[in-house]
Amino acid sequence: MARSKSTFVCQTCGAVTNRWAGRCEACGEWNSIMEEKEGAGIGGSPKTVRGKSGRIVELVSLSGQEQPAPRITTNVAELDRVTGGGFVKGSVLLLGGDPGIGKSTLLIQASAALTKRGHRVVYISGEEAIDQVRLRAARLGLAKETVELAAETSVEDILATLTAGPPPEMVIIDSIQTLWTDSADSAPGTVTQVRASAQAMIRYAKQTGAAVILVGHVTKDGQIAGPRVVEHMVDGVLQFEGDSGHQFRILRAIKNRFGPTDEIGVFEMTGGGLSQVANPSAMFLGERNLSAPGAAVFAGMEGSRPLLVEIQALVAQSPLGTPRRAVVGWDTSRLSMILAVLDAHCGVRLSGHDVYLNVAGGMKISEPAADLAVAAALVSSLAGVALPSEAVYFGEISLSGAIRPVSHAPTRIKESAKLGFSSAVVPEGVLKSVKTPELELSGLEGLTDLVARIAVGSNLNPTDNPED
Ligand code: TYD
Ligand code: MG
Repeated sequence: MARSKSTFVCQTCGAVTNRWAGRCEACGEWNSIMEEKEGAGIGGSPKTVRGKSGRIVELVSLSGQEQPAPRITTNVAELDRVTGGGFVKGSVLLLGGDPGIGKSTLLIQASAALTKRGHRVVYISGEEAIDQVRLRAARLGLAKETVELAAETSVEDILATLTAGPPPEMVIIDSIQTLWTDSADSAPGTVTQVRASAQAMIRYAKQTGAAVILVGHVTKDGQIAGPRVVEHMVDGVLQFEGDSGHQFRILRAIKNRFGPTDEIGVFEMTGGGLSQVANPSAMFLGERNLSAPGAAVFAGMEGSRPLLVEIQALVAQSPLGTPRRAVVGWDTSRLSMILAVLDAHCGVRLSGHDVYLNVAGGMKISEPAADLAVAAALVSSLAGVALPSEAVYFGEISLSGAIRPVSHAPTRIKESAKLGFSSAVVPEGVLKSVKTPELELSGLEGLTDLVARIAVGSNLNPTDNPED
């Protein structure tokens, strides 16, 4: 008798093997491999159909009449900016984020904003019971909105419900990991089930022109859990980030087939839900301590928007053989690089010191332009000298110790002037490109210039080894 073949699929990365193992060789995760029946669901082997030939499709040229994608706008400016001007009809978005960050809150508020504008929105909750969703809506003062609600996890039932009434313009599925479909015979939450359910929702969106938002869970290392494959299938991936200790939440587009991917939306979690933050720089700098050493203001960019944040460093003599390096909101390997450049080119030795680096307000920065602000904060903390409180910093540090110009210098400078800063420490090259600066610019050619400036009047002698 022919036995149905099994494959073994890693539930974290989706890698397929033909043998069970305790640890996935592709992603290194333990206990993540599960048996799944072959041929089940999407991605299973296609059945050979005899005697049926394919339909001939028309091939067209690249040029032609293209229409702008029809969109549904929420009028929530921070949300519409991230999606590139509203949700595109017939498109599917995946919204990822840590548990408790506010995904359900954001989506119920977005749904209410849409129903207020006369759109029909269906909210399917697979995680919470109707009462829980109602409680949240009441807390947000949205209980009277006409969002249509269901608590359901079966894809077949959801699709039957959606196709029965008048077609909704927006469908929210909270969350994709709770859905299951009869067409895949593995347990809910497995890669096969999630993939098949997502595929069914994508097909529904394309057929009916409804915009679909799928909520996805995030694993501890920040990836949208289970199938990364879902990220490839959808039209856009949004990430809702933030630090549970802070009230700021950042919505970021990681992938967007219909708009830019570097835009962010900034929200604040309050007792009455998420509220928009129109001027994030002012908020991120709000709680600044002006006289403490180890703090530098970085004039950064997020997409087309300038964003000023404070970078804090603490350098302390370490009792440990291998000193600690702790980083929040920035890249650890980038910090190691800057420490190495400070050591090799400026004689600033931190190999015997613990180094803590923090981006204030729970913000995450990925721009190399923050290098100069990080270096300034580190040197300031080591020297015990506070940096001038009215100065901002930006510039990329190269391995040779040179400071390289970065993009959008005029925008960064303009925003700093607007927020009341009076000087900017920038790469030398920026002086040529910015003709009429709104504030005093001081150019740096190399990192040694920066160290020398901060060291003046301090107990730090750059050529001294602090361990001696
Ligand atoms: P939730 O939207 O349920 O998060 P997710 O769907 O991403 O898991 O948000 C839960 C958190 O938000 C919870 O810790 C409470 C907090 N919260 C507020 O602070 N104010 C509010 O008005 C609401 C609705 C939630
Ligand atoms: Mg939720």
